[in-house]
Amino acid sequence: MNVGTGPRRAQQPPLPEPTAWHEVSLTVNGEPVAAQVESRLLLSDLLRQRLGLTGTHVGCEHGVCGACTVLMDGVPVRSCLTLAVQAAGADVRTVEGLAGDGEPLGPVQRAFHEQHGMQCGFCTPGFVMTCTALTGRAERPDEETVADELSGHLCRCTGYQNIRAAVRQALDESFGPQEAE
Ligand code: FES
Ligand code: FES
Repeated sequence: MNVGTGPRRAQQPPLPEPTAWHEVSLTVNGEPVAAQVESRLLLSDLLRQRLGLTGTHVGCEHGVCGACTVLMDGVPVRSCLTLAVQAAGADVRTVEGLAGDGEPLGPVQRAFHEQHGMQCGFCTPGFVMTCTALTGRAERPDEETVADELSGHLCRCTGYQNIRAAVRQALDESFGPQEAE
């Protein structure tokens, strides 16, 4: 035991490497964006904190709830699992890109509105972006594909029936009414 030599010194963990910064360019909702980002910065944080696009919601922060879904080159991705540097050069679309301020709702947003496909609305931007990707396909996705895509989203309020009705309406508008199987 050390007596009179001051406090015991705790072991020093290895210091982290200095943070690397990257200059990235991407397109967000059609607008060119340039940003200097840390290697570890998440796309969700770039969108929400650096660009003020808070329509993208963050729930679980580990890829389970789907609330943070945005489109990257037309493909739904979980922005809480995507690094900002991975979006370099990409065309990113968020829910804000579906209709500008004062503009009428886009067709998917309108379908969710008309079918009451939301209650608190926390999960809604994620569902809307995945549904937007479904309506943008070359052909109408079959029921199994739709169910599979929607299974990546959690909703604590609606019981999903109205969400499914909204997705069906949006698909009907894009591809015409579904033929009976
Ligand atoms: S916040 Fe990204 S999946 Fe839940
Ligand atoms: S509407 Fe509340 S979580 Fe889905």
